[in-house]
Amino acid sequence: MTIKMGILGFGFIGHELENLLSDFQEIELVALCDIEPEQMQNAKTPGIAKYQHMDDFFGHPDMDTVIIAIPNHLHKEAVIKAAKASKHILCEKPVALTVEELDEMEKAVQEAGVKFTVHHQRRFDPDFRTAKEIFDSKELGDVYTVQSMLYGINGNMHDWHVYKKFGGGMLYDWGVHLIDQILWMIPGKLKTVYADIRNVINKEVDDYFKILLRFENNIVAEIELGTYFLADKPNWFERHWFIGGNRGSAFIDGFKPNGKICTTSRLLENAGSKRTMTSAGPTRSFGTPAPGVLITKDLPEVNTSHRQYFDNFVNAMRGEEDFLVKIPEVRRTLSVMEAVFKSGETGQVIQFE
Ligand SMILES: NC(=O)c1ccc[n+]([C@@H]2O[C@H](COP(=O)([O-])OP(=O)(O)OC[C@H]3O[C@@H](n4cnc5c(N)ncnc54)[C@H](O)[C@@H]3O)[C@@H](O)[C@H]2O)c1
Repeated sequence: MTIKMGILGFGFIGHELENLLSDFQEIELVALCDIEPEQMQNAKTPGIAKYQHMDDFFGHPDMDTVIIAIPNHLHKEAVIKAAKASKHILCEKPVALTVEELDEMEKAVQEAGVKFTVHHQRRFDPDFRTAKEIFDSKELGDVYTVQSMLYGINGNMHDWHVYKKFGGGMLYDWGVHLIDQILWMIPGKLKTVYADIRNVINKEVDDYFKILLRFENNIVAEIELGTYFLADKPNWFERHWFIGGNRGSAFIDGFKPNGKICTTSRLLENAGSKRTMTSAGPTRSFGTPAPGVLITKDLPEVNTSHRQYFDNFVNAMRGEEDFLVKIPEVRRTLSVMEAVFKSGETGQVIQFE
């Protein structure tokens, strides 16, 4: 079975997807649509049909599946129209701006009996998979903190992302990925949500946030994103993870991660009182553990890429697997985002599940 695919919105991610999908024999790209026709001038797929209006695009006779890759505020309208045109749907993230919007979209999808999933390909990011593998291995003992951090150095937010009415802001842009990763990694109910959301330099939309998610298993996940951590290192736009448990720690830096795992075979709750000289001066609390008690290891090697997202997509379209990204998961992420916005506005901790 060949998937006859169309892409609605041929901007940044539309172009990326054209490149990526050209590797898949199972997918034939048959149509594009962009409200600005010049966006499609450099399409590489020979003979592809090009439309300027989504209503005409959804009427393309030889297309069974669409990717919705237009700005966030238009996802609801596009998904409902795609469903009514009986197209299977892969929607970009964030799937919608609110849970209410998503529920309307899902109703249309169910009425039409089409397939529906969301492009959360960052579940295959190597840094995230490294963190997840360490977390799943339980080698850090009882994990109490998982920190997921992402920093940009120049405040560069662009195009429609700086306007609220288009669904702009970093929470909708990257926050949705970071929350999706944490919810996919940490099992159990999420009990409370707290967020500090800032407009550091952008007037309308968030460009910094810190989110604390407390799970029923007492793990607290901290997600921090800043677009304006001014620095003169061009590669400092970086990704960092820290995972702490009672038997060890993991430090993970970069999208192609470097770092290490430090564990111990025994709990070190009472290592005795020993005076050590450190750069902070003489100390008893911050000295290094006694020789021989720490085991330092390299990070596990993970071999993942965004291509694997589409391996699953193709198999799910053929009915051989479930979609990795399921709509109830996406809905949960969106309701966490609503709680995050509410906490950011009120300064209150929001009770969740
Ligand atoms: N999964 C990811 O990693 C990832 C990465 C980037 C963007 N995205 C998502 O993809 C979507 C698009 O983002 P982008 O960065 O490519 O934006 P973009 O501005 O680069 O491209 C959007 C395109 O949609 C077109 N467009 C706007 N309104 C339209 C309409 N009514 N009909 C047809 N075309 C229309 C624009 O002309 C533009 O070419 C967003 O939802 C974004 O969050 C996802």
